[in-house]
Amino acid sequence: MPRPQLAEFMRRMEPGSVAIIPAAREVTRSHDTEYRFRQDSDFYYLTGFREPDAVAVVAPSREKPFTLFVRPRDREKEIWNGRRAGVEGARERYGADEAFPVEEFDAKLTELLDGAGSLYYRLGGGHAELDQTLIRQLSRMRMMGRRGVRAPQTIIDPGALIHEMRLVKSDEEVALMQRSADIAAEGHREAMVSARPGMREYEIDALVEYVFRRAGAAAPAYNSIVGSGANATILHYVDNDAELKDGDLLLIDAGAEYEGFASDITRTFPVNGRFTEAQRDIYQLVLDCQEECVRAVKPGVTLEGMHERSVEILTEGMVRLGLLKGETARLIEEGQYKKFYMHRLGHYLGMDVHDAGAYHVGGRPRPVEPGMVMTVEPGVYVAEDAEDIPDKYRGIGVRIEDDVLVTADGYRVLTDKAPKRVEEIEALMAGGRKK
Ligand code: GLY
Ligand code: MN
Ligand code: MN
Repeated sequence: MPRPQLAEFMRRMEPGSVAIIPAAREVTRSHDTEYRFRQDSDFYYLTGFREPDAVAVVAPSREKPFTLFVRPRDREKEIWNGRRAGVEGARERYGADEAFPVEEFDAKLTELLDGAGSLYYRLGGGHAELDQTLIRQLSRMRMMGRRGVRAPQTIIDPGALIHEMRLVKSDEEVALMQRSADIAAEGHREAMVSARPGMREYEIDALVEYVFRRAGAAAPAYNSIVGSGANATILHYVDNDAELKDGDLLLIDAGAEYEGFASDITRTFPVNGRFTEAQRDIYQLVLDCQEECVRAVKPGVTLEGMHERSVEILTEGMVRLGLLKGETARLIEEGQYKKFYMHRLGHYLGMDVHDAGAYHVGGRPRPVEPGMVMTVEPGVYVAEDAEDIPDKYRGIGVRIEDDVLVTADGYRVLTDKAPKRVEEIEALMAGGRKK
């Protein structure tokens, strides 16, 4: 039996069509070593199969609808590089109706595609070799028309179906995302009780990753950002090598990948455990904005609308603090707030940290629905060399990010185990600090 996700995908495919969904390939890191393997999200979603160099062929109208091409068992290779499911495992453990060694994929293509009206395949989806193979195959099949071979007439991006399915999470998926969020929150708490002046950002980075891995997460869901002082104003700072200074803030944007699902949390806290007045001014503004935007989440609202609200709140605050001067409406119209708030409020979250799914439908911002998960992550970043602003705010960067599930009547914050109120953070850091 294929997994329910694949069964649903087959129900949504056009009658008489065939889909080709490739697994991820191993990627060289240097010379003869590879990056840690990470399965393609769409492939994993449909098949649950974790190995590289596989291809799923799905043909719902056929007698044997689900074929997996996989690396065959190989005693020598398995001694060196690890176990393989092989063709037997593909059938027995992953519900394939048929399975073949992946080397036979090209030779079987004509038979697999013959008579299919439409082919679901993501051209330009990062599988350049397979793109070429399929293009060659289609033109060969068109030449064979007199022999009765019929090439597919239409090529459809399967993302349109799979990504819509991935966007709305099942109860089981929400449970995995909750676990991923709990693990990430634990990592952030560990960072708060461990940070102190004199440590390096990479020590905190390593501690957070240790907590993730200890809890069974495969890895961070993306490269963790651990930025102290003015490094917090660099949005995708990943050097993580500076010394933590007394009196500085530390911004950590780190999430775990657990059973294929990402979490994505940002917390910003003082290295010495107490916010200065200037840090608190900016922090409280971002927190008020973040909490108001989280509270707004319910079916029917749009990420676009929420982003616009975050711009209003932050721009008003920037005027209050003296970061901007003038009338709020005009500052928004002219985009002046982008000097200090240059990204969007949030994004979908799921198997990918910036998850699949359309943000606009019919040219309009899409209303959210129960089962969708998104981040809410406003920030204010004041560059060290910002001009015409109070001195005390230079070099302060604050972002606060939670993962929020849309429920039937509102929302649930998956990441609420990571403290974010000023008093909560200061209390945790005062009470729980490690020696
Ligand atoms: N960590 C990536 C993001 O917050 O979107
Ligand atoms: Mn995010
Ligand atoms: Mn993030």
